[in-house]
Amino acid sequence: MCGIVGYFGKRPAKDFLIEGLKRLEYRGYDSAGVAFLEKGAQRGSKASKRWKIKAIKALGKVAALQMKMEGVFVSGIGIAHTRWATHGKPSERNAHPHIDCKGLVAVVHNGIIENHRELKEVLEKRGHKFRSETDTEVIAHLLEEEMSPSGEKRKVGFEEAFVKTLKQLRGAYGIVAIATEDPEIMLAARFSSPLVLGIGSGEMFIASDVSALVGDVKRVVYLDDDEIAVIRRDGYVVKTLSSRKREKEELTLEWDKTVAEHSGYAHFMLKEIFDQPKSFADALRGRLILEEGMAQLGGLSAVEKRLRSINRIVIVSCGTSYHSGLVGEYMFEEYAGIPTEVEMASEFRYRKPLLDRKTAVIAISQSGETADTLAAIREAKEKGALVLGIVNVVGSTIARETDAGVYCHAGPEISVASTKAFTSQLAILSLLTLYLGRQRGLSLVMGKRIAKELEQIPKYMERVLAQAKDIKKLAKKYAKQAHYLYLGRKYNFPNALEGALKIKEIAYAPAQGYPTGEMKHGPIALIDSSVVTVMIMPKDSVYEKNVSGMEEILARGGKILAIATEGDTALAKKATDVIFIPKTLEMLSPLLAVIPLQLFAYYVAVERGYDIDKPRNLAKSVTVE
Ligand code: M6R
Repeated sequence: MCGIVGYFGKRPAKDFLIEGLKRLEYRGYDSAGVAFLEKGAQRGSKASKRWKIKAIKALGKVAALQMKMEGVFVSGIGIAHTRWATHGKPSERNAHPHIDCKGLVAVVHNGIIENHRELKEVLEKRGHKFRSETDTEVIAHLLEEEMSPSGEKRKVGFEEAFVKTLKQLRGAYGIVAIATEDPEIMLAARFSSPLVLGIGSGEMFIASDVSALVGDVKRVVYLDDDEIAVIRRDGYVVKTLSSRKREKEELTLEWDKTVAEHSGYAHFMLKEIFDQPKSFADALRGRLILEEGMAQLGGLSAVEKRLRSINRIVIVSCGTSYHSGLVGEYMFEEYAGIPTEVEMASEFRYRKPLLDRKTAVIAISQSGETADTLAAIREAKEKGALVLGIVNVVGSTIARETDAGVYCHAGPEISVASTKAFTSQLAILSLLTLYLGRQRGLSLVMGKRIAKELEQIPKYMERVLAQAKDIKKLAKKYAKQAHYLYLGRKYNFPNALEGALKIKEIAYAPAQGYPTGEMKHGPIALIDSSVVTVMIMPKDSVYEKNVSGMEEILARGGKILAIATEGDTALAKKATDVIFIPKTLEMLSPLLAVIPLQLFAYYVAVERGYDIDKPRNLAKSVTVE
């Protein structure tokens, strides 16, 4: 998905622009480009100099752009972009930044301008010549039209022209623009596509994703919809579209540069899988009260009273975050006694959901920017529900738009395939179960047991990770399977979905996840000796049911790769292959069972030779519908 970075300061902009684009590479893209202001000689005059725009673009990787920029002197003001083609094929011509006919402005844009065809028609009639097939290019020509209308004298300044342009756009946008007429400012605007300002000392940064700023700034400001930022070398002002100044909260960026590096692992995904004992412990840190079997969640204190009165929970989320929500459903119902439903946010927004003040809607999102989840919480707010967030990225849109929430503190998740965010979300859901459960009927004894066991999880995770080499061998053995089936029951049914999603995403393998009990209603028709079924079957309350399901598969010649509880030798004898996980409480078993599934998908993708951190067609945060 597209990425934006911009720099205005004392250094040549090139350094940050290239580095920032590299930090956004994980989002997926097909071309890249930069534009900056440079002083050039005015035609016909050797003495006076005027600003002009210089743009450099490259198809493919940022490294190709970097090569093209070697030896190019770049001033202290520039913008850059990685493009993920939507309107027009991947090409240098379609790569951003886009420039108007007269070379007055350069624009980078994320999102989609829905009325670009109508706007283009009008602009073409007024004589504008378009060079690309993109929707974005209309923005550059609209700016030109406002600043320097065809055949007329310059009408308005850059900032006013920017506002007038924004008012003509329909759709979603994060836009950053620079203009030769006003080299003292850079302008940015947001509507439904994130932008974050980074505040340096005597220098300012902007990006569409906070991970581009990690290591360069400590203070950030997120833009909200319908806001524009006027950025100068030494500061910024945020305004509404009606030019009213907005006071913005500056947040501290906790992440440092090292957390966004491979650190010796072959891929970010592998690093993030191995991060989990630590990221899980970070999610619990300071939140567990062992002796009271309780959790303290500062982010919920403002809504504590209202939370006591809720009688229904609806979880909204997408992808992996949807799967963690499904585990949460089992937890909330079993231990907090609150009826819970989990909805895919993309569907929720188009239903007519029945919500009231006694319903808590919980949005789960790693990025905090997923468009579908955002639309779902907006709908829920309108209907009067209490809206909570379980979000990883501090200050992200979902975090800001929810009434209250709990951060995951997993650190930046760079790999497109989500891993550590999942287990951190489960950590928060477990804490929330304690919090809500102890407010209701959960006994002190049970609360203490859960709290104590949560503390042990990082140690258990290490034991699962220690089997990575064995899992790698199994992945090698099964890497050529045409199709994978994942089965699990109760708390581990969501893991069956998650295992299948992981292998689909990075190994491009057709895979399906089902509750074991659903097998006989159709999927069993797929079983023959060529299919391996990954069965998640720890010693829990549904163990016997899972064993029956396994027997049915074995009886039809199918192979079983079982995820089983340590010491389950009986199962080990029956299954074709087995990976063991430590014994823990049933509600916490998904935290351990998911790790072999992540590693298995990872090593199958390695065997198949795919680009694991940048899987085809996928984006890390899906900010468009
Ligand atoms: O940032 P979010 O948690 O809201 O993202 C939701 C999904 O887009 C995400 O989990 C996606 O399914 C991942 N690629 C899964 O690995």
